[in-house]
Amino acid sequence: MNILVINGPNLNLLGTRNPNIYGVETLEELMMWLENSTESANHEFKFYQSNHEGEIIDVLHDERHWANGILINAGAYSHYSYAIRDAIEAINIPTIEIHLSNIQTRETFRKKSVLSSVCLDTVSGLGKNSYLEGLKILITKQ
Ligand code: DQA
Repeated sequence: MNILVINGPNLNLLGTRNPNIYGVETLEELMMWLENSTESANHEFKFYQSNHEGEIIDVLHDERHWANGILINAGAYSHYSYAIRDAIEAINIPTIEIHLSNIQTRETFRKKSVLSSVCLDTVSGLGKNSYLEGLKILITKQ
């Protein structure tokens, strides 16, 4: 599969951002770990991180002919970006919503995701394993 991995705002600060919640590994370490996992063998990856809503939408559009599976951790945009939601719906590629932390057990505003309804599944609260579980779901449902 060609798998597009998108990380949204503030995830570039992983390693130092709320390490008690998000862990001590950097985004680069997490993505390398994912790409080097046994599950990733025989799959192609493209990794993007952006702090900007429009850039995330542009990547979804620009990679829509390349990707046949998407893992997206849209950060806080997950909770209110109807524009990212609509982009995921528009390109119609199997997409898994990822969260490192358990969004159901944190602040009230995090409990609602506007992306869930257009994603195949949501994996939340497993730390970096959320990405790996998301990948496994994509592979088994392809
Ligand atoms: C997050 C959870 C979001 O609520 C938060 O805004 C993030 C990270 C997670 O991976 O747990 O930036 O998506």
